Amino acid sequence: MDYKQYIAQKIDVEGVSSEEIASMVNIPPDPAMGDYALPCFRFAKALRKSPVQIAEALASAIAPDEVIAHVSALNGYLNFKVNKQGLAADVLGRIAREGAAYGSSREGAGKTVCIDYSSVNIAKPFHIGHLSTTVLGGALYRIFNFLGYKAVGINHLGDYGTQFGKLIAAYKHWGDRAAVEKGGIHAVNDLYVRFNNEADEAMEAEAREYFRLIESGDKEANDLFEWFKSLTLAYVETIYDRLHIRFDSYAGERFYTDKMAPVVAALKEKGLLKESNGAQIVDLEAYGMPPCLILRSDGASLYATRDLAAAIYRKKTYDFYKCLYVVAYQQNLHFKQVFKVLELMGYDWAKDLVHVAYGMVSLEDGAMSTRKGKVVWLEDVISRCVEKARTVLEEKNPSLEHKDAVAETVGVGAVIFGALYNNKIKDIVFSYDKALNFDGETSVYVQYTCARASSVLAKAAEAKFACAEDFDAAPNEQEAELLKALADLPQTVREAAEKYEPSLVARWCVDTAKLFNKFYFDCKILQAEPSVRAFRLALTKAALTALTNGLGLLGIGVPEKM
Ligand code: ARG
Repeated sequence: MDYKQYIAQKIDVEGVSSEEIASMVNIPPDPAMGDYALPCFRFAKALRKSPVQIAEALASAIAPDEVIAHVSALNGYLNFKVNKQGLAADVLGRIAREGAAYGSSREGAGKTVCIDYSSVNIAKPFHIGHLSTTVLGGALYRIFNFLGYKAVGINHLGDYGTQFGKLIAAYKHWGDRAAVEKGGIHAVNDLYVRFNNEADEAMEAEAREYFRLIESGDKEANDLFEWFKSLTLAYVETIYDRLHIRFDSYAGERFYTDKMAPVVAALKEKGLLKESNGAQIVDLEAYGMPPCLILRSDGASLYATRDLAAAIYRKKTYDFYKCLYVVAYQQNLHFKQVFKVLELMGYDWAKDLVHVAYGMVSLEDGAMSTRKGKVVWLEDVISRCVEKARTVLEEKNPSLEHKDAVAETVGVGAVIFGALYNNKIKDIVFSYDKALNFDGETSVYVQYTCARASSVLAKAAEAKFACAEDFDAAPNEQEAELLKALADLPQTVREAAEKYEPSLVARWCVDTAKLFNKFYFDCKILQAEPSVRAFRLALTKAALTALTNGLGLLGIGVPEKM
């Protein structure tokens, strides 16, 4: 049973949907107030009454039933007390039945959600600036699939542009096949950086010529380009593996080379194209935006032109319900322009395009700058975090088995969680020490809590203790608080999808782990008398399952021992 939805169904306010009401229901910090609370302020306008009056009227209109034991109104809030014994049987039964699927649903069945994320640039560093898009996109990908949607992960590769001409020019001057083979992406990037630092006018001209050769299908230029591309992809795939990220399509900007002319033609036909200083633009002044540049005066296409072609292609290919672009807020204007142009072209599905913008990540111990080659590679951040995790584990638990594997799970988890814990639009400063704090609001804390639950369950199994989802008494306060949190996972996942905000799941994990620990420290589990023990073991098992599912949605694993 979904308690928030159950409550929402009892309330009928014109103009406010039941889903909206469900998302307004919260769990008050002090259970003495109630198990669930609904603030009524939002209804004041529709009902033209004060929140206090509304709460009072609703409280007397809702009759208690087998789920809701008591309803009261206080200061504009409706407070609900639920039947705790029913709650226990319901939540524990459901988690035991559904296991790894607990929190999932079929509500998205038949709908496709395209998610454009990570979208790396070929031959450029895969740096810490790509962390958020990669892990946010990856989390949304899993969350939408979990809700029954068909998620399509798209890596819109940055594989188009004059930089490839530069790269070939640099390679021709200073490159060496064996050295690049050996150095991979780093060697390729060094060439590019060297070009930016040292190229003179003659080399710039060469670069333009090589770019033209790529465009005109010249074999040598294209072979070199494909080689650089495959080196980049082989490299980023090793990082995607570590972060548990996958894509269904690597159709990048170049893929749209032959798909832009029809877009330009359609723009012209619809009378949207205008000439401006020799360039072709769509004027967006009426919408308070600078013009969207479609073709440069030399006829070359732009980033926006390729995004227009890509959106149309995706609609045709996937018939998406939504198409998400997980891209930094620096590109807000770009996406506003592209979406507006598509709308002006008459595509009603333009309303289904969503720019999922996020803030910047920087490192506590060093700013990042990309231009002249001083970048923080994401790989180095991950490796350093894993190394630190290993040191911390060594200190905490010297006899731990499979230390390397556990350190990888913990370290990678800390990097992912660090990028996902805050509201996505916030800029964040990543700190290795904070990310690996066992007592902080961290993945390590949640993982450690899971290991604690696993250890209780292992001891119980060894002693052949029974486990029982139903209990013939009402749960105590610690148990009830944990049960409510566990019951809340499905609604949390749903809201995370609705708001494109995986941080809601991350926070749920931390809050639930805290409640588990409170239960663990305040209530005896293994030493309790048999019927209480059986119930507490079921609760422990349910908490482990739900936390594992929550972290799993973020791409974070759970070690059995830590
Ligand atoms: N490669 C681009 C960058 O690094 C991001 C591409 C995002 N996706 C898109 N369809 N424009 O800035």
